[in-house]
Amino acid sequence: MSDAQGVRFAQEDGKMQTDRPEATKPARLAVLVSGSGSNLQALIDALESQQLPGAQIVLVVSNKADAYGLQRALKHRLPALYLPWKQRAQSEQQLVALLRLFEVDLIVLAGWMRIFSAEFIEQFPRRIINLHPALIPDDGSGATFTSSDGSIIPVFRGMHAARQALEAGVKITGSTVHYVTPEVDAGPMLCRQEVPILTGDTEDKLQERIKQVEHSLIVEAVQLWMRTA
Ligand code: GRF
Repeated sequence: MSDAQGVRFAQEDGKMQTDRPEATKPARLAVLVSGSGSNLQALIDALESQQLPGAQIVLVVSNKADAYGLQRALKHRLPALYLPWKQRAQSEQQLVALLRLFEVDLIVLAGWMRIFSAEFIEQFPRRIINLHPALIPDDGSGATFTSSDGSIIPVFRGMHAARQALEAGVKITGSTVHYVTPEVDAGPMLCRQEVPILTGDTEDKLQERIKQVEHSLIVEAVQLWMRTA
């Protein structure tokens, strides 16, 4: 379903669409959120301050009607949609239709709390990236990660990664932007940054410090993706 770099968009008729006659047209981003959307805001700010030339957000989708991310999008006059997520297969079909209608090149999961089916993911090879608040190895796989100081820590996947890091008593955690593959939080890494765990950290404090790092990491990830796509 993809070329050597896996960057082509599968079409319903099975033919490949040559994606963005490369870098001549702006990369069209859809940002998917479920909550506060501070990382969506970071992308909006980067776009508005010309830090992401060649990109534009064409669609924001939330599976929660009251997600603040939708308000952020509307404030900046971006198309923002609430897509109820009761039955995954049906919702995924609706989302695929929307992504095609808006001719989306890159799907950015920024605090999106729903797991996609393998069938959905396979329709967008190397075109879905996810921000995960923990350190994930380069190829995404494995149960441990070796940090820059040489310490070997568990890979915290799934929900409450900051809490998992605190409970494990590790001294370092971080955030990773990775390609989305059917295995949750286990796709190849695009970029990543470490965050030290400080004495007296609570889950909220640590999560907040991770988010501060994420706000530049997500911008860097989109820049990197545009360079390789
Ligand atoms: C981020 O910490 C991200 O890593 C995780 O969900 C959080 C989203 O935060 N997947 P926000 O909605 O962007 O503020």
